[in-house]
Formats: sequence, C-alpha cells, structure tokens
Amino acid sequence: MSLATVIASINTLFISVVSHAAGGSFMPPQGTKVAEKVDSLYRFLAGASVISCILVFASMCIFAYQYRRRPGVKSAYISHNTLAEFLWSFIPFCIFMVAFAWGWYVYHDLRTMPKNAFEVHVHGQKWNWTFEYKSGRKSAGELYVPVNTPVRMIMDSADVIHSFYIPAFRTKQDVVPGRYSNIWFDIEKPGNYQVFCAEYCGQGHSAMLAKIHALPKDKFDEWLQNDPYKGLTPVQVGEAVFKARCTACHNATAEKKVGPGLQGVFGHQVDLEGGDKVTADENYIRESILYPAAKIVKGFPNAMTPFLGQLGEQELSGVIEYIKSLQ
Ligand code: CUA
Repeated sequence: MSLATVIASINTLFISVVSHAAGGSFMPPQGTKVAEKVDSLYRFLAGASVISCILVFASMCIFAYQYRRRPGVKSAYISHNTLAEFLWSFIPFCIFMVAFAWGWYVYHDLRTMPKNAFEVHVHGQKWNWTFEYKSGRKSAGELYVPVNTPVRMIMDSADVIHSFYIPAFRTKQDVVPGRYSNIWFDIEKPGNYQVFCAEYCGQGHSAMLAKIHALPKDKFDEWLQNDPYKGLTPVQVGEAVFKARCTACHNATAEKKVGPGLQGVFGHQVDLEGGDKVTADENYIRESILYPAAKIVKGFPNAMTPFLGQLGEQELSGVIEYIKSLQ
C-alpha cells in the first residue's frame, strides 16, 4: 500500500466528520489540485484534534466522577502501568508521524517548481502588484494566466517585504527586496481568484490586492498579444494606469490619502517641505513619479517608492495627462 493510498483512506474517514460539521463551506474555493491536498491535510489535523480533545475531556469527566472523594473509600495505590504508558506514547507518536509525513509530502509539492512552467515576473511595491510577461506585455493588479498549465511566479520587491498570497490555491510566499522568490500553481478551471498581500507592509497594506484571471489557453494567447492601450487617448491610458498603480495612496479628488489628492493640483502652486514653492507642471509631476523624494509636499511623509523604470513613456505621459484633466 503506497503512502498516497494510506493518506486517501485516512482522509475519507475525516472528510465526512469535519466537512459535515463545517457545512462544507469552511474553506475558500479550491482552485488547484494542491489546494485539495492541503485541505485534506487540514481536515486530518482538525479531525485528529477534535477526536483527541473529545477523548481527553470525556475521560477526564468520567474519571473525576468515578474516583470522586467518598467517605470510607480509599483509592488503590498504582505506581505504573506499562501497557497504558506505552499506548499513550505510541499512539500519539504514530499520529504525529502521519502528520509529519503527510505535511512533508504536500509541502514538497508546493515548493517543487515544475520544469517548463509558464513564467511570469511579479513586482511587489507599496502598494500594488505588477506582472510582466515574456511577450513584453505588462499588467497591474490583474494577473492573466492560462488554465491547465503550470505557472511559475518569479517575484521581487522594490521596497519592503510583501507576501504573495492566493487563498484559493493555498499558497503564499514572501516577496523580498534584493532577491527572487518563487511560487507555482496549475489552475484547473477558468475563473477569477483573489490575491492578497499577507505581510504587513505599511499604511496601504490592506489595499495591496490583485485579481487572477484564469483563461482557456486560446483566450489567454489572444490576451497576451493584445496591446492594452490600443485605441485609448492619453488621458484614458493615464486613468487605467492611475487606477491600477496610484489609488492605494492618491485620490483623483482633492481629498488626501497617504499622499495628496490630485484634483486641481496641475498648474497651481504647491507648498513643499522646507518652505519652497513650486508650480505643478508636467516636469514637476514627472519628477514626482520617477523620483518622489526630490520634492516632498508639505505635511506629507516621504513614503512613495520611485517608479523609475516601472512605467513606459506612454504610461507616464498618460498619467500626467490624466492628472492635468483632474480640474
Ligand atoms: Cu504589501 Cu502588505
């Protein structure tokens, strides 16, 4: 009997117990095979814990009643019982070894990157996720991938530690500045899945989200070849970029967020830290996007990560035109 068969039979035992108790909707949807394996392990751990808990508490109550203090009754003096001691050590040992072997088997699956996977570069930055494909196509906040294809993420961070977390795939990996980290998944059905940042990375952490769109292979290939800004005016290009990259920190209204609200800024005087003033023209906005630390607006922290090298000229001039349009 192989390890997989043993696991499968133990699993069937606990599936009925726990998933009925939890109404079947205890966990997020399962987007991958690995997610099913992780859930099976969790059901085993939850089932084993519940059963042991019941056994311990039930025997505690029974013994407390059975051997309660009564006048004239003296309990027997028992120094030890070899069989009982062996069993209460050996049975938990076996359960722990099953949990260890099973956990190792699932973790191995999660951490072994498939060869010939479809690769996507992921950049984490306060506070958004961007994706870069080998076709040259980029996207922000939206990750498009083919279904039934192993996909490997090659991830880096421009500033602090983030964590790329997809609950539906039961997989999560820190994204660290100065090195690449990896995760992989193979999605079974077309659909949308939510990405979270799972490492507290500052004020906009909870807004650091992305959507995964899993498409059939032909639809995905079509998407990959598309020019995302085809037929759009510069303001529309800028609006798309702004929504994907800037809204964690900036409002398109005058209301401030982490950074200043951007409505009515263009063409007006801006007060800077240190008492200087500057007129917000194209060059000032360009500099503030590419080198945010160069001029800090009065009353705001120097919190923005530079976008140098992250936006194409079309995107950059689009954002500038969009900000100009916010009057
Ligand atoms: Cu990025 Cu939390």
